[in-house]
Amino acid sequence: MTQFAVKPAIQLCDTVKEFAEAANLGPKDLLFTNDFLYDPYFAPLNLECPVLFQEKYGLGEPTDEMVEAIYQDMPKDVERIIAVGGGTVLDVAKILTLKHVSPVLDLYDGKAPLEKGKELVLVPTTCGTGTEVTNISILALISRRTKKGLTGECMFADQAVLIPELLKGLPFKFFATSSIDALIHAIESSLSPKANEITKLFGRQAIEMILKGYMAIRDHGPEARIPLLKDFLLASNYAGIAFGNAGCAAVHALAYPLGAAYHVPHGESNYAVFTGVMNMYMSVRTDGAIAELNQFMADILGCDVANIYTALEDLLGCLLPKKPLREYGMTEAEIEEFADSVVENQQRLLGNNFVPLSRDQIRDIYRSVY
Ligand SMILES: [Fe+2]
Repeated sequence: MTQFAVKPAIQLCDTVKEFAEAANLGPKDLLFTNDFLYDPYFAPLNLECPVLFQEKYGLGEPTDEMVEAIYQDMPKDVERIIAVGGGTVLDVAKILTLKHVSPVLDLYDGKAPLEKGKELVLVPTTCGTGTEVTNISILALISRRTKKGLTGECMFADQAVLIPELLKGLPFKFFATSSIDALIHAIESSLSPKANEITKLFGRQAIEMILKGYMAIRDHGPEARIPLLKDFLLASNYAGIAFGNAGCAAVHALAYPLGAAYHVPHGESNYAVFTGVMNMYMSVRTDGAIAELNQFMADILGCDVANIYTALEDLLGCLLPKKPLREYGMTEAEIEEFADSVVENQQRLLGNNFVPLSRDQIRDIYRSVY
């Protein structure tokens, strides 16, 4: 049986003004965003809705402690949450929309019920997470030194709104890490045992748009991304639709302990383990979906399929230098520790691996990119 669904209604708006008018933002809406987005785009509109700024609660990727603090300050009588931001803002908003928010750890431990409490509108301002169309919220659980995903039907947004205007101010480093994340969503979902013709359609389209965009940046410099921002926003959305249905896998699973322990941006930590995972897959199985995917990417890059991962690394290296894990501060002892953590905490993702990976194979992947 083939299953495929896109739950939120997706809207494309050219400008924030167009969105604010169409959504009829008012006092019963909470606008949850960052001040660097609010000041240029929302402040001139003189909206009546209360506003919360995420950066007041810490920089970087979302944590359980951050959600607790934001929930304390959040006006509880609002009917709709409008989240405008990167993955942090959107993932936190998915939790704030629930009836039971605190203690957050109870949600992640399955001790509190997942029930929708408010309407949710998600507006992404990076081009990577695809989180606007998935029902996953990923938090770093500080006391447990890892990241963990929470999923539930009630965590889908009611609407996902794509506004290319909001990406104009995205610094190149964030553009790079977020779009690499989207590329990996598309790749991992294409290899998942849950992939089907429809998810692959979205994944392939995302891969092609992202790789062609990267080739333009390689050939013409970082500014070449500016006319392509709408493409990258769409590609991120397509990749989100693909992995929302078929799932992500080992690359994300192995990246989480690194991201949580050393605060490596999500896309960058994925990138750091990416080729290690792909090479391990290829050491187990070289036919089927991985052969099709490698050929598809080699055709876009114009390289020999035998060299696809080297060619990909060369291309991605034009955006972001690839670093061995030890350069992020990871210790050799953590190779074993992280392997155990992945097996213990990331079974949701490991179930989507192209081929099953043992605990020792996971350790060997870390070794190969250490
Ligand atoms: Fe991701």
